[in-house]
Amino acid sequence: MMAVHPRVLAFLGRALSLELSAVQQYVTHSALADRWGDRESSGRFRHEAVEEMQHAERLVQRMLSFGVAPAASQLRPVTTAGDLVGLLRQNAALESSLVEHYTEAVRFCLLISDRDNTDFFRQLHQEEFQHGVELEAWLSQLSTLQWPAEERATF
Ligand SMILES: [Fe+2]
Ligand SMILES: [Fe+2]
Repeated sequence: MMAVHPRVLAFLGRALSLELSAVQQYVTHSALADRWGDRESSGRFRHEAVEEMQHAERLVQRMLSFGVAPAASQLRPVTTAGDLVGLLRQNAALESSLVEHYTEAVRFCLLISDRDNTDFFRQLHQEEFQHGVELEAWLSQLSTLQWPAEERATF
């Protein structure tokens, strides 16, 4: 079993709570989109939920490798909205909390010269950052689609 700084364990624990919160949020948004008859968005949210679940899995494996049992207890309440753009904005906020968390984790691991955990958190940071980029692209695609309709409405 590897020795690990207690704060690294705390970063892992908080990360697990955030990732499980993301699973809960994306599963809920997928179900909401499905209720609205928007199957495509529902499928995309479902895919996100699976990716977040895989992140949770990686964190659990890492905790076990340090001999620690996962004990995430506080999930963030799901934030919803009345339309797709609103949901995407909520998700962008959630993804940026993940990015922030992993930024801090990487910074700390660098500070204590824990190279292995630096790499571990950096990889997750990159993937969450990418989720944010994809969400922004989705949002801007939606606003381009809506623009001509709004333009016509002004006549
Ligand atoms: Fe994630
Ligand atoms: Fe994510």
